[in-house]
Amino acid sequence: MKGIILAGGKGTRLYPNTIAVSKQLLPIYDKPLIYYPLSVLLLAGIREVLVISTPEDTPNYERLLGDGSRLGIHIEYKVQDTPRGLADAFILGADFIGSDSVCLVLGDNVFYGKDFTKMLKSAMQEAEGSGAAIFGFPVKNPKEFGVVEFDSKLNVISIEEKPSEPKSNYAVPGLYFYNNEVVEIAKNVKPSARGEIEITSINNHYLREGKLKVTLLPRGISWLDTGTPKGMQKAGNFVKTVQEMQGFYISCIEEIAWRRGFITTEQLKKLGKELKMTDYGRYILSVAEEVR
Ligand code: G1P
Repeated sequence: MKGIILAGGKGTRLYPNTIAVSKQLLPIYDKPLIYYPLSVLLLAGIREVLVISTPEDTPNYERLLGDGSRLGIHIEYKVQDTPRGLADAFILGADFIGSDSVCLVLGDNVFYGKDFTKMLKSAMQEAEGSGAAIFGFPVKNPKEFGVVEFDSKLNVISIEEKPSEPKSNYAVPGLYFYNNEVVEIAKNVKPSARGEIEITSINNHYLREGKLKVTLLPRGISWLDTGTPKGMQKAGNFVKTVQEMQGFYISCIEEIAWRRGFITTEQLKKLGKELKMTDYGRYILSVAEEVR
């Protein structure tokens, strides 16, 4: 399975923070926002990654992440000239995806929690087997998201994009797993009223064909909002608190790459030494002392 991180957009809800800097490069406490979605792909065991961003910001992502070899993975970049909607990721990424299945994660989505890797693995299997797998997560402000509608037996009957009257409080997080059909489906999606080709249209396509699995995330898993300054601050506080209390770091991409066996202990030590002036770097060095 291939992985795509969408790190485009203008981030207008965070202005003036994002006038000169791409949103997904801003810090959530001690690391850039994009580390969090990248860690989701690494946890899923995905080693081929495409980062899609704007013409101005793509060079900065390249500077930050390079070709991925430091993490034992392969990262490519694709420029999106104008934002056309999330489904554009599969059109821009068609060559990269080839005949494979694909996971799309939005560059500003942060996940953390118990058994999250297990959920990722079963979503991958669902998508590779029958079609598509997405998640539902209860929120207080469903109007701002894609929202799942259920019938009385909790079967999913539709997904609505930013409905003015949400039919449930279950939002669809920005993490999607699809089989290869998604490329053709995306090419045929008609723009919505706001002029975008919506990921929600793709999900509804799979749903109509009986090929969409929606898993409700259990309470042990957190999906953190980074859409506003308040959301970013809260997410940063969450990461700081968990890391200080438990001693384990959230979304330390170097650690995950090592635990997954993508890099050797020597490589991990080298990455730690380069950052040893920070707690983050010293954490990497302490992980490298463990027995894998
Ligand atoms: C997008 C999707 C929406 C989804 C959300 C998750 O909205 O269109 O369906 O619930 O991401 O972050 P956006 O945040 O791009 O407006």
